Amino acid sequence: MSRDAGTALTLGILGGGQLAQMLALAALPLGVRCVVLEPDPLAPARLCAEHICAPYTDPAGLERLAQCSAVTLEFENVPVAATTLLEGRLPLRPAPAVLHLSRHRGREKTALEAAGARVAAYRLIETESDLAGALAAVGGQGFLKTAELGYDGHGQARVDTEAGLLAAWNKLGGVPCVLEGLVAFVREVSLGVARGPDGHVSFGPLTENVHVNGILRRSVYPASSGPETQAQARSLARAVVEAWEVVGLITLEFFELPGADGKGGEGGELIVNEVAPRVHNSGHLTQDGGGLSQFEAAVRCALGLPLQDFLPIHPCGMVNILGREDGGEPDWAALDSVPGTHLHLYHKASRPGRKLGHVNVVARTREEVLDGLDAVERILYP
Ligand SMILES: Nc1ncnc2c1ncn2[C@@H]1O[C@H](COP(=O)(O)OP(=O)(O)O)[C@@H](O)[C@H]1O
Ligand SMILES: [Mg+2]
Repeated sequence: MSRDAGTALTLGILGGGQLAQMLALAALPLGVRCVVLEPDPLAPARLCAEHICAPYTDPAGLERLAQCSAVTLEFENVPVAATTLLEGRLPLRPAPAVLHLSRHRGREKTALEAAGARVAAYRLIETESDLAGALAAVGGQGFLKTAELGYDGHGQARVDTEAGLLAAWNKLGGVPCVLEGLVAFVREVSLGVARGPDGHVSFGPLTENVHVNGILRRSVYPASSGPETQAQARSLARAVVEAWEVVGLITLEFFELPGADGKGGEGGELIVNEVAPRVHNSGHLTQDGGGLSQFEAAVRCALGLPLQDFLPIHPCGMVNILGREDGGEPDWAALDSVPGTHLHLYHKASRPGRKLGHVNVVARTREEVLDGLDAVERILYP
């Protein structure tokens, strides 16, 4: 397989946001060029990939993608019609069958349970009659989430009364939803896992994640979960990629329950929250941790190139940069002067709450990473 200029491998990407941008940036040094299909003329990936500015179902755009060596995606909600047109013409990694499961919270939970994973108590809410008794059945409080199209805490509401549940369902448009019981987790963690066409499985880092208003604020590696929990995360991830026959990179989000000591020390059991069939915000710290990045791993996996674990060598962490309400910018000079920081900006216009970039912090110890993340957050979120 040649990787010379002119005959380079090409990777098609459905979607052209920051994840596609970072996939394309990781692909170039491997001798791989990316082609993104994305309707937004200002999509971040246009700066480092060939940009087909057209709808995801555009026949000419899909035809161009079909000329690539393989196709991957940066978000799970690409129209089914797009992947149907590509299927059978070149490798789609992950495959449409995996997208079908992960794009619908109900199907996803059924498929996770079938793979042997535990999920939160849940009820499908498809019609108003499904609301009766549903809240009590999941423990009296929980989250109502649209079955499809939710992201960054959008399309969900916290509910703790029957009346609140009905109001929340109406507010979400009366669309099919999943009502999940509230999980009293000690921490949230996530794990990327890649499975090559030969069935070889590679793991990313277990990261510890903090969300604010449903949006990821920071991730830290290593997570403070005990070794048994870390091993459990890997065995669940392996079980899911094998049961779902995934070829490509996916990320599992977990809730870690309190351990035997009640404080979440050793033995905290994991509940799978959701699965992203792609690289994930919590894996961005792999860009600067000294090992393979999740983006390189995803590119390698999609193209069937040799794969290894994508684990940081150094303790590291990440803080997201979100658009501010006042439209103002952070103090860049102050950010740059925090030791061990690496700035990653997506070149997006600022809107309140929008992900505009992230700051990775690398240090010698986890404690130093936490100090660095605190310093970064004081600048970004005063
Ligand atoms: N059942 C739950 N119990 C407790 N917290 C939850 C629950 N569901 C969601 N959350 C909180 O909301 C965040 C976002 O929810 P998630 O289902 O992951 O949606 P999204 O697709 O927006 O990431 C989670 O990371 C967690 O912090
Ligand atoms: Mg999530």
